[in-house]
Amino acid sequence: MQIHPITGVFGAEITGVDLMTPLNEADATGLRDALAEHLVIVLRDQPIDAGQHRALTRVFGEPAVNPYAPGPAAHPEMTSIVKEAAERTGVFGGGWHTDLSFIAQPPGGSVLAAIEIPPYGGDTMFLSQQAAWNALPGPMQDLLDGRNTAHVGKPYGVKWAPPIEEQAMKGSTKRNDPEADKERWHPAVLTHPVTGRKGLYINPTYTLRIEGMSEEMSRPVLDQLFAHCALPEHCLRLRWSSGMVVIWDNYSTQHYAINDYHGYRREMRRATFNNDGLAAWAPAS
Ligand code: SIN
Repeated sequence: MQIHPITGVFGAEITGVDLMTPLNEADATGLRDALAEHLVIVLRDQPIDAGQHRALTRVFGEPAVNPYAPGPAAHPEMTSIVKEAAERTGVFGGGWHTDLSFIAQPPGGSVLAAIEIPPYGGDTMFLSQQAAWNALPGPMQDLLDGRNTAHVGKPYGVKWAPPIEEQAMKGSTKRNDPEADKERWHPAVLTHPVTGRKGLYINPTYTLRIEGMSEEMSRPVLDQLFAHCALPEHCLRLRWSSGMVVIWDNYSTQHYAINDYHGYRREMRRATFNNDGLAAWAPAS
């Protein structure tokens, strides 16, 4: 297995592994280690089917069904992310976020496979929450470390429901769920259990306010933090090719699906996995 860093900060392309044949323990360990180190790992020319996708997901943790975008009955843990050529809506994941941070136990990571990609556009951006944490001034680190933030599932709830014309994947996602409007509290800063590196755990799609502050008081602070996280130095942009597979650490990164390919169809298959859970990333001190 060879590892080729994509930026000077995070992300790596992996070669020398065949995801279409059962992985041996050395390769599985190598992939887990690469994910812990690089946070986003990319494998090209791996046109895996749903069964191989599930097997790959199990290398990292227990496959988890997305309650807001479950897959078909045969493999409910595989969300089908589709935008048709004629659609002029938003896209699934079209804003900086970490997957499902508004639920009690957000997934630890995701495995995304490119099924059909447009001739141009449809890239996915990632940012490193560890890089964002490292570059924060000390007083801001002091404010956030050991503090919780509230997350709400705005796109899926009632209170903040987006206009119908902006909603992606109508019909295959659960909407207007009052449960999604409930505040769920998670640590603002996590510590990676393998590398010991700290990272922010906030995102503009779901994070509503900082513990001990109203939404209004939190807003300018959070807006500054969101802009800081998305600085180009903390980001990487992935151009997809057919058969490409990307795995990311959902506690140490945010991602953003770019909606710039109107007139072309894009289809991806995504599975998420639960590993050790947030508790292992925020040990009580
Ligand atoms: C997502 O997982 O949020 C969507 C990613 C993508 O379609 O590029």
